Amino acid sequence: MTAPPARERFLSLLQSAIEDGTLVKLTLGKPAPGAADATLRNVFVRPVTLRGGPHLTFVFRHATRDITKNHPPAAALEVIRDLLGREFLDAHAFTPAQTAQLELAPDGTGKLRVRLASAAPAAASTQHDREKSRLVAPNSPWLSDLGVTTPSGLPREGMAAKLRQIEKFTEILQHLLVEADLVPAPGTASAASPAAPLRVADMGSGKGYLTFAAAALLGDHATVTGIESRPELVELCNRVATTRGFRRLTFLPGEINHLAPEALGDIDVLLALHACDTATDDALARGVASRARLLIVSPCCQKEVSPQLRAPAVLADALKHGIFHERQAEFVTDALRAQLLEWAGYRTKVFEFVSTEHTAKNTMIAAIRTQSTGQSAALERLRAFAAFYGVRSQRLASHLGVSLEP
Ligand SMILES: C[S@@+](CC[C@H](N)C(=O)[O-])C[C@H]1O[C@@H](n2cnc3c(N)ncnc32)[C@H](O)[C@@H]1O
Repeated sequence: MTAPPARERFLSLLQSAIEDGTLVKLTLGKPAPGAADATLRNVFVRPVTLRGGPHLTFVFRHATRDITKNHPPAAALEVIRDLLGREFLDAHAFTPAQTAQLELAPDGTGKLRVRLASAAPAAASTQHDREKSRLVAPNSPWLSDLGVTTPSGLPREGMAAKLRQIEKFTEILQHLLVEADLVPAPGTASAASPAAPLRVADMGSGKGYLTFAAAALLGDHATVTGIESRPELVELCNRVATTRGFRRLTFLPGEINHLAPEALGDIDVLLALHACDTATDDALARGVASRARLLIVSPCCQKEVSPQLRAPAVLADALKHGIFHERQAEFVTDALRAQLLEWAGYRTKVFEFVSTEHTAKNTMIAAIRTQSTGQSAALERLRAFAAFYGVRSQRLASHLGVSLEP
């Protein structure tokens, strides 16, 4: 059977882009009906320079994991040729000059569209240039020391999602720092150092992935402190910080709630990502007490409110199912936290941090301080909300001295 022309034209464009070194990335999507591997969702391909010379790195994204493989150019083209039509029906190839989009039908016929430059991603002539444009260089030594990547910057087995989470967090952090007027927008004339370094605290810092990411992003513009109850993690993180020359990054052992105020001092930016249950509330309360300008939390395991939830009659039949009850508890807890922060004078937004495909712990609450606490209209509304769900006590409310009872 002769190959369909659109597919062959696409492969020929791709071959030229690979050979002349202009390929920025290739994405394969839309699994074909009857694909051999039903768990394979996408394949992402980009050029990398390895010790053995130019290669293409393939990320095979499956439903629950990623698998990364590297191939030299000629072999890579054969792998793509094999996948196209058999496993995937769509392909997008990007070069600095053009975007080529192939759409195949299950019968093998297809359409090829080639668009010129403007919509294509930024040109990246060398690996070095490409890495400069990323906020977190995957070959950063700290990422390798923490076991996320290999020294050459490839995600270690099982760590691709973690690397994406770190990259996404860094992008969001930068965006929010600008929105909170804590740093100038990149590329603006006022991009000088702030008068005094920002004080960033990361509570429940764990293995320090996101603490290091914040410290690497802000450099000498910030002092960053991780607080973590597990001493072995604190020791590991302090060792990596020292070895890798992070002069303003330290980790303190201890429980968020028991940390003496003088141990930390005032905070400008409070982070608490995936701190367990009410540790998120303890962290938020420290941020509010310190009048931190920016609070960023990604809550997990919202257990406190669950036993209090009283299903309003109309929801009773739905909430008798454990999974709905659990989701409702998450929603009520996080919605109440957002409302309490608004009462405390913060402009608050709640959004999905990374795709649910990568982690279930993906809700982020970001809050920027805009006014003083005690907004009475907000208090009435949040009490009505709590009463609707039968919630009488919640840790952040207690910390802030807010009674939920009307
Ligand atoms: C799921 S890990 C998240 C680590 C890190 N923030 C991240 O997102 O990669 C939660 C960490 O918070 C720590 N932790 C939980 N409650 C804490 C508390 N009350 N005080 C200090 N650390 C706490 C745990 O020991 C654990 O290392």
